[in-house]
Amino acid sequence: MSLVSSKELLLKAQKEGYAVGAFNVENMEMIQAVVAAAEEMNSPVIIQTTPSTLKYADLGYYYSNVKFAAENARIPVVIHLDHGDSFDLAMRALRGGYTSVMIDGSHNRFEDNIALTRSVVDACRPAEVPVEAELGKVGGKEDDLDGGAGGYTVPGEAEEFVARTGVDSLAIAIGTAHGVYKAEPKIDLDRLSEIRALVSVPLILHGTSGVPDEVVKECVKRGICKVNYATDLRIAFSDGVKKVLSERPETYDPKKYNSVGRDFVKEYVRQKITVLGSCNKV
Ligand code: 13P
Repeated sequence: MSLVSSKELLLKAQKEGYAVGAFNVENMEMIQAVVAAAEEMNSPVIIQTTPSTLKYADLGYYYSNVKFAAENARIPVVIHLDHGDSFDLAMRALRGGYTSVMIDGSHNRFEDNIALTRSVVDACRPAEVPVEAELGKVGGKEDDLDGGAGGYTVPGEAEEFVARTGVDSLAIAIGTAHGVYKAEPKIDLDRLSEIRALVSVPLILHGTSGVPDEVVKECVKRGICKVNYATDLRIAFSDGVKKVLSERPETYDPKKYNSVGRDFVKEYVRQKITVLGSCNKV
């Protein structure tokens, strides 16, 4: 089917109490792996790219690959801009056919985050492309974006932020961080419940690689409807490639090692779709 908007997908997930996996991709094989896993599980899926990925190769390369994969799948596939770091990049994604856009103004002051988010919402509205924003700081390092130590989302601010920006979904900071954890993250579940009680739009969990599955399940139970995984997919892909190259160092055909990276990513995504409960939710 054609690429779909994230709006209805997330509202359905919110209503039915599961979450849609949002998986960051870096190349064609990772796109194939994510869509193949979702197809096998009969699950909706979101494929996303960050600013550094879009610096590595033009947005059109990713868009074309994801569009082709979606059109040859029976499940709904969204292409989402993850951590859009400027109005310009959000507009490039909008014009380039992305069906969901994040503007991340969380590093700005509250009022500046509102103004930036509002401007992207206003620009995306006529095309009915939904906008995700972030309030509070998910710490750690996401590609080139250094979130620093982080800072939890204040529930009352989240309520005001959503009302004043008209945003379609909100990423919140409740103790996760991007990248590899040095110690098990402490997730503030009560804060999540407080935010859920005040905010009606779908809530998003970032920095989920390395968060124990049981904790992720509890977050979904308490109202998270989109869960982002990036680092673990990169690790899975690299592990597959390394396995081939260490066992058979004479290998020179990229298809030989990229295909094993692809298998590893596919298996990882299958497991996470089970955790998120989106299996058979098409
Ligand atoms: P991880 O790299 O920790 O999985 O974070 C992913 C993410 O939140 C992408 O926005």
